[in-house]
Amino acid sequence: MRRPIQGPAPLRNRNNPWLNQRKNNIYLVTLQRLNQCSGRWFGRLNLVTFPVIGVVGGGQLARMMAPPATALGFELRVLAEGEDVSAVPAVANAPVGDYKDLDALLEFSKGVDVLTFDHEHVPTEHLRALIDAGVNVQPGPDALVNAQDKLVMRAAIDRLGLPNPEWAAVDSVEELVAFGDKIGWPVVLKTPRGGYDGKGVRIVDSADDAAGTADWFHAMSPLLAEAKVDFSRELSALVARTPSGESRAWPVVHTIQVDGVCDEVIAPAQNIPLEVAAAAEGAALRIANELGVTGVMAAELFETPGVGAGFLINELAMRPHNTGHWTQDGSITSQFEQHLRAVLDLPLGATDAVAPVFVMKNFLGGDNQNLFEAFPMALAYEPAAKVHCYGKSVRPGRKIGHVNLAGTSTSEVDSVRQRATAVANIIRDGRMPAQTTPEETE
Ligand SMILES: Nc1ncnc2c1ncn2[C@@H]1O[C@H](COP(=O)(O)OP(=O)(O)O)[C@@H](O)[C@H]1O
Ligand SMILES: [Mg+2]
Repeated sequence: MRRPIQGPAPLRNRNNPWLNQRKNNIYLVTLQRLNQCSGRWFGRLNLVTFPVIGVVGGGQLARMMAPPATALGFELRVLAEGEDVSAVPAVANAPVGDYKDLDALLEFSKGVDVLTFDHEHVPTEHLRALIDAGVNVQPGPDALVNAQDKLVMRAAIDRLGLPNPEWAAVDSVEELVAFGDKIGWPVVLKTPRGGYDGKGVRIVDSADDAAGTADWFHAMSPLLAEAKVDFSRELSALVARTPSGESRAWPVVHTIQVDGVCDEVIAPAQNIPLEVAAAAEGAALRIANELGVTGVMAAELFETPGVGAGFLINELAMRPHNTGHWTQDGSITSQFEQHLRAVLDLPLGATDAVAPVFVMKNFLGGDNQNLFEAFPMALAYEPAAKVHCYGKSVRPGRKIGHVNLAGTSTSEVDSVRQRATAVANIIRDGRMPAQTTPEETE
């Protein structure tokens, strides 16, 4: 008698109701089918159908979803803004199309099991039209609008009773002045939609200064006015949630912004009071649950020691986020893998950190145009560094890559920061940092 060839290990959680609840077409491989296949398992591999994930937008976030998609056997497709965007070389199927054009979105959605995003700029009405056409959009528009529109988000955070800075929707310079006079200057003025990396955020120091904001009100109204928060540092609480309602959080991290752009992340945030970390994580999970978020969500926070809960919520992002890049090398499950699992309604992966401390340092475009020329120097400088380049052409101030580096103890955090920064700067500048040139160390 021929000995049956052994199939894969039986699913351990056979009685998990989650598995029995599955109704969509992604999971063609059931336990029963695997049992039927015993003896002819390898010949039946063509029965296995893996999902297709469509990502709207071809930036570095879409690009960094490609490695976990490949590892898990999923097909990733990208609706790219142009032939030359970051994700195009990383995926086989990347049609060029305009994310503001509903027909382009509908065409792209054909044959995808789930549609998700690299950015938050797809018009909300298009998302509703896609759902009406039967597309599985994750996160859906009712959740996503809270990441698209900062006024909607502020109202939602108030409704949930979570800590917001003082804020108001203002329609004119006069209303901005009234707000500043009431809560005290300076205030922060924001465009509710379309901003990123500090574009769409300006500090207004006084009633006189407010006169200079008239052009913003002509372009968009109402705008969001907020108290300028006197924070000790910025934090980020990163979570993921599935459509079935499973959610997980990564440790709360410290994020350092330079000119409104994320520059460095320290994971976990050092010396954060346990109750503040727990409350921040709890707030992010609650937002994800109550707003029906699916996929990865980042809650950007201001730490305010001794005031209220010890933090205020700045904004939400519903996609992998710059403050979560450390998870690529520093967590059991990276935010990019988790996002794919979450939007497909698969069980989420463990979010534990794999080192006591982890640093992520961004590098922006500088003088050096030929990044690769700097690689021999950068990689030799710190063999433990993990370099991630986005395949973008270099333009001053443009995010073009980041460096991840682990530390073996929290007492090492300063040294890890210095070494990660040195590697990032070598690539950005194409030369060794001044303090480590042989002349200086001799
Ligand atoms: N109310 C505020 N008080 C103090 N600083 C702020 C405030 N709002 C924003 N900032 C600063 O500006 C940065 C960018 O603002 P944010 O609202 O996060 O816009 P973006 O969508 O560009 O990330 C924040 O990370 C923070 O450093
Ligand atoms: Mg922000």
